[in-house]
Amino acid sequence: MSTLIVLGTQWGDEGKGKVVYYLSKQADYVVRYQGGNNAGHTLIFEDKPFVLHLIPSGILFPDKYCLIANGVVVDLKSLKEEVNVLAKKKIVVKGRLFISEQAHIIFPYHKIIDGILEDENVKIGTTRKGIGPAYADKVKRIGVRAIDYLERDVFEDLLEKNLIEKAAILENKMDIASLKKEILGDYSEFSEFLRPFVANTSFMIEEAISKNKKILFESAQGTLLDLDFGTYPFVTSSNPIAGGVCSGAGVGPTKINSVLGVMKAYTTRVGEGPFTVELFDEVGDYFREKGEEYGATTGRSRRCGWFDSVVVRHSVRVNDIKRLIITKLDCMEDLDKIKICVAYKYKNNIYKDFPASRTIQKYAEPVYEEMPGFNGKVKGVTNFKSLPINAQRYIKRLEGLVGASIDLVSLGRKREEIIEVNGGTSWF
Ligand code: IMP
Repeated sequence: MSTLIVLGTQWGDEGKGKVVYYLSKQADYVVRYQGGNNAGHTLIFEDKPFVLHLIPSGILFPDKYCLIANGVVVDLKSLKEEVNVLAKKKIVVKGRLFISEQAHIIFPYHKIIDGILEDENVKIGTTRKGIGPAYADKVKRIGVRAIDYLERDVFEDLLEKNLIEKAAILENKMDIASLKKEILGDYSEFSEFLRPFVANTSFMIEEAISKNKKILFESAQGTLLDLDFGTYPFVTSSNPIAGGVCSGAGVGPTKINSVLGVMKAYTTRVGEGPFTVELFDEVGDYFREKGEEYGATTGRSRRCGWFDSVVVRHSVRVNDIKRLIITKLDCMEDLDKIKICVAYKYKNNIYKDFPASRTIQKYAEPVYEEMPGFNGKVKGVTNFKSLPINAQRYIKRLEGLVGASIDLVSLGRKREEIIEVNGGTSWF
């Protein structure tokens, strides 16, 4: 049995797409277990940036199976577009891509409601892809799963009930009858598209495990966007944490071997919500420009700050992370001095563990420790010992602060720009 979870330890955008692409080569199956097309995983394919939103990047290797498990919410229009983009690159997905029967479908009304809630309710800064409203329907037990969509009678009945349930919020914004017509009008095209992909993915994973296949579980977003352990309510509506694999893919906890946490060398977040280490100065601008910190899904510019060890320590604990990859270390190479947030301070109290209180999250001040800049080039380095000594010290200090070993260092967007700190270890 060989299973590995790769997940984000901050607010998403840590570079998981590239890491999964790097590790997929060793895997047989790559499985997405939560989120939807709110995610944007950027990687370099055939020397050009390439963004995948829903389909795991393992699809770029012709011998890998990719599963979209039950914990994911699926926008069929967006999925079809993604499949078409891959087809243009001569990447065949039929027979390799499978979608859980129990994955819930995102409909146009979910996107409309996402927008209405953003504009008229608490602004979360969502991606407006309908993710929250689709998960809300799942929890309300009125959602439409892939298997329901394929049974036309069942689907039509559910659609009718959903539109009645949503009438109050949609009524003054649009003509509900036209919306219904549009959804039914799309039915043949989307159900025909979806049918060959639908499978019992939990069963497939079980079978693969029994055959000793290597399975990589890929999260979207990050631990600080987790519905339970993130900066609630400024979170996404699913569980990117390691525990999410059990419910989101139908796998028992004893079947999970290891968890690799992905962390950026500094911190970013998109959308609203607390962000203790946020910088409004030239260092923040430097990270944004050097790191090209603009959202892969929405194009929004990301908020940037120093590395926050309170956040990553929280992630290490919640996910039981033993091994980490640090990404974008090259984006710090021009700085004269570097700060690391080691604790939060609020009303003369020091917090080393991530606080759940909204007030403390919002008003806490970062407690920084300072280190000298790297004083040397990082980009292009191919082994740990060749990194400038200050860069090595930075990595070792972060390890000590967050409590897990940094076994991979990423120095650029390409797959090859990764250093294996302890030599070529096996990840499965
Ligand atoms: P939603 O997932 O679209 O509902 O958005 C909820 C919050 O999660 C917002 O702050 C989004 O900006 C954030 N978010 C969702 N997906 C991602 C992602 O892939 N990377 C970073 N932030 C994300």
